[in-house]
Amino acid sequence: LKVLSVASEIYPFVKTGGLADVVGALPAALASEGVAVTTLVPGYPAVMAAVESSTEVYHYADLFGVEARLVRATVQGLDLLVLDAPRFFDRAGNPYLGADGQDWHDNPQRFAALSRVAADLGLGRAPLYVPDVVHTHDWQTGLTAAYLHYSGEPHAPTVMTVHNLAFQGQFSPSLLSAIGLPPYAFGMDGVEYYGTIGYLKAGLQLSDRITTVSPTYAAEIRTPEGGMGFDGLLRSRAAVVSGILNGIDTTTWDPATDPLIAAPFDLKRIEARAANKAALQERLGLAIDPDAQLFGVVSRLTWQKGLDLLVDRLGILLGTGAQLAILGSGDATIAEGLAYATVLNPGRVAMVNGYNEGLAHQIQAGSDVILVPSRFEPCGLTQLCALRYGAIPLVARVGGLADTIIDANEVARAAGIGTGIQFGSVTPAGLEAAILRAAELWRDKPYWQAMQKNAMKTDVSWSRPAATYAALYRSMVAIPQ
Ligand code: ADP
Ligand code: GLC
Repeated sequence: LKVLSVASEIYPFVKTGGLADVVGALPAALASEGVAVTTLVPGYPAVMAAVESSTEVYHYADLFGVEARLVRATVQGLDLLVLDAPRFFDRAGNPYLGADGQDWHDNPQRFAALSRVAADLGLGRAPLYVPDVVHTHDWQTGLTAAYLHYSGEPHAPTVMTVHNLAFQGQFSPSLLSAIGLPPYAFGMDGVEYYGTIGYLKAGLQLSDRITTVSPTYAAEIRTPEGGMGFDGLLRSRAAVVSGILNGIDTTTWDPATDPLIAAPFDLKRIEARAANKAALQERLGLAIDPDAQLFGVVSRLTWQKGLDLLVDRLGILLGTGAQLAILGSGDATIAEGLAYATVLNPGRVAMVNGYNEGLAHQIQAGSDVILVPSRFEPCGLTQLCALRYGAIPLVARVGGLADTIIDANEVARAAGIGTGIQFGSVTPAGLEAAILRAAELWRDKPYWQAMQKNAMKTDVSWSRPAATYAALYRSMVAIPQ
């Protein structure tokens, strides 16, 4: 079975969040299920630099105003189709934003182009590569389903995965003909969304199947509270919506062999985590103290991630004798708030503003607790890394965080199955209660160790999710067009 996966980012070349991790990991995970995944990505500089040799699969003299080549290349084990369109993608920095922090003005054309190419492949227009299923991810690829639908021709079935409903890709209706859509596409049953062209809307409306990255998020997005404007549409399409949890790459994230951490460890050598904690405390200028409960955060800095709740209750956390290590990048105001806390609490709070893979691994290996106080979280990967590294996740009970952590409540404790701490009302008071529970559990060292072992034994690999995706694809190839 040949699946074309289409995305705007892919690890290890271009990543702004977990989407890239998932898109980068799916091919290997699905290979063991007998599914051959080819991934279509934009030819950003980092992707073009990684391509050594390639074959041209298609040529566009005029793709929404620019010349483009579609080339196929195997790069670091990934079978890629790269949309080499320099006027759209040969730009330094972030895939979506210019140096001024604003969206590129031609994002509607750039991602329409990516989707147009995906659709052409789904229509079988490039004989060198014809997929059985087209799998799109997030708004950047949402128009794929629209191009296929309005072609009126037979085409491969489509599934769209929603990684984050907050990013919707809404653009001016005046662009309709510039991006090659017919006037009648601009309706409620098409791409129209509150008077705009909605790229995510198009994908949700017109894909054959919709998945999201956890079962709880699949349920939440069908409610007015969690639907971000799409709950009605998603309720009407409930029969084709499902939630498939993400996994993580358990080779990159393996504490027994991780070259990025100070001391390797595994289930039988959990005590070796102590050396990682000391190394982390030293690196970040925190007091080197094995007894201080060390909370870690690895996160984009956005409203979604709820770190303002943490700033609000920092006094409670420090009052228990704990320390805090933060690695984050994103919103400057959130970063400033956190940086200010480090100034007020030298040796107890540390913050590194930026994207740093090595430090992300070291925080997972050296922290006692990984905090994820998200207001909403489609799946979340950092709590999965935390489980694997024996750092106890303290998470908001939302989305994928609800699905992947077993709260160490009284019943779980008695049964010996807890893997973390969840809190229900995602408010400063809710977080405060959870921090106090964490402190109490920390004092019970035998139970803390039991929790770490439970966490490390949790299957966070791609094997189960991959089998579910494979079954979904197989059920789709039977869809009559
Ligand atoms: P989201 O995609 O919403 O940002 P996820 O938890 O799904 O959240 O994925 C985040 C991914 O990005 C994880 O692999 C995490 O380790 C990584 N990450 C987030 N922030 C940073 C950072 N500042 N430095 C390094 N890695 C980061
Ligand atoms: C999004 C979500 C995150 C999810 C990731 C990968 O960025 O915010 O929860 O884990 O996509 O699916």
